[in-house]
Amino acid sequence: MSIVTRAAVCRAPGTPWEITELELDEPRANEVRIKYYAAGLCHSDDHIQKGDAPMRMPVVGGHEGAGVVDAVGPGVTRVAVGDHVVCSFIPVCGKCRYCSTARQALCDEGKNAGIGVLPDGTFRFHQNGEDFGGLCVLGTFSQYGVVSEFSCIKIPEDIPFDVASLVGCGVPTGWGSAVHAAGVRAGQTVVIYGCGGVGSNAVQGARLAGAKNVIVVDPVEFKRDMAKVFGATHTFASAKEAHDFVVETTWGELADHAIITVGILNDEVIKNAVQVVGKAGQVTITAVGNGWIDENPGMLIGYQRRIQGSIFGMCNPLYDVPRLLELYRSGDLKLDELITRRYRLDEVNQGYQDMLDGKNIRGVIIHEH
Ligand SMILES: NC(=O)c1ccc[n+]([C@@H]2O[C@H](COP(=O)([O-])OP(=O)(O)OC[C@H]3O[C@@H](n4cnc5c(N)ncnc54)[C@H](O)[C@@H]3O)[C@@H](O)[C@H]2O)c1
Ligand SMILES: [Zn+2]
Ligand SMILES: [Zn+2]
Repeated sequence: MSIVTRAAVCRAPGTPWEITELELDEPRANEVRIKYYAAGLCHSDDHIQKGDAPMRMPVVGGHEGAGVVDAVGPGVTRVAVGDHVVCSFIPVCGKCRYCSTARQALCDEGKNAGIGVLPDGTFRFHQNGEDFGGLCVLGTFSQYGVVSEFSCIKIPEDIPFDVASLVGCGVPTGWGSAVHAAGVRAGQTVVIYGCGGVGSNAVQGARLAGAKNVIVVDPVEFKRDMAKVFGATHTFASAKEAHDFVVETTWGELADHAIITVGILNDEVIKNAVQVVGKAGQVTITAVGNGWIDENPGMLIGYQRRIQGSIFGMCNPLYDVPRLLELYRSGDLKLDELITRRYRLDEVNQGYQDMLDGKNIRGVIIHEH
């Protein structure tokens, strides 16, 4: 039997999120129905809604979500009815070339992210005969969703759903950008451009990995204040001020790492990041947007600089998500502090406006049932 679910959908790029009722099919083989309690407002959904990044429409928004499994289809083994789960924004099949070589963020099952169709090639959300995809094959801006079991990670029941939802994208993406993709080591100097929901976790990762200087660039004062809470040692409103400080504090050797987690990637931030790292330095690009790498290769060759792209912080979600929640429990990772405001589903557009206005580290939708 299908059920009815209230969801925030986008019907065409550039049109606002619209709250509507959809029919949701039962889970089929290897699929799970989740009753969502919380969904995080990651900048990537805004890229889809604004049309910065392409996606099949109409789409149910949201790829950070946590809730309870309330039905399973045949053959499901990863989770059971009643389990508390967080969604992994890239599914993890466990057996493809990348999963089986500890690179789960590259799982081949991630191929449908921009279409939002289940692995069997069909959709579960419908309205008047029209199919709706789910963002990242999830769609957590909905009271209920049917997802592949590969998208589910079981979590302990004492973890609140609002903080759990963020460990499906923003937390591992940022933390892993520093710990995995950059590979920050004790005593190093790291410059992080953009300290929102993702960047705040890059700060936490760099700090926990033992960086001596965790330097944040963000034009918004509130973000800079919060960056200090997450472990930044120095904060600056502009890349120029940060650059001058790095030159001074490293005696001209420059930084070991630059990590780009700004809202919208652009040429200028890439240029600043390349210039702030020294010999054998690395620029890690996590932000999505329009920037082009427009550098004379000499800039890379002479100093042996690297530019590294990073998806999902190069994490292995089945290992890293429970590990991050353990760090939260022990007080080594701050998650409560990431949530600035909570919203009802029908306030989703306001939540994104607050993000763009620099008012939120992360906004979280609390679903009503
Ligand atoms: N690669 C991945 O796997 C992945 C996953 C999730 C999100 N993302 C992307 O990461 C980016 C950050 O996401 P978020 O949710 O943290 O966004 P956000 O809007 O919460 O944070 C962006 C921050 O960048 C700051 N900023 C804007 N322009 C800046 C500039 N020129 N210099 C320094 N700071 C600047 C803003 O003030 C804000 O604090 C987005 O582009 C998002 O799409 C990538
Ligand atoms: Zn995200
Ligand atoms: Zn896989």
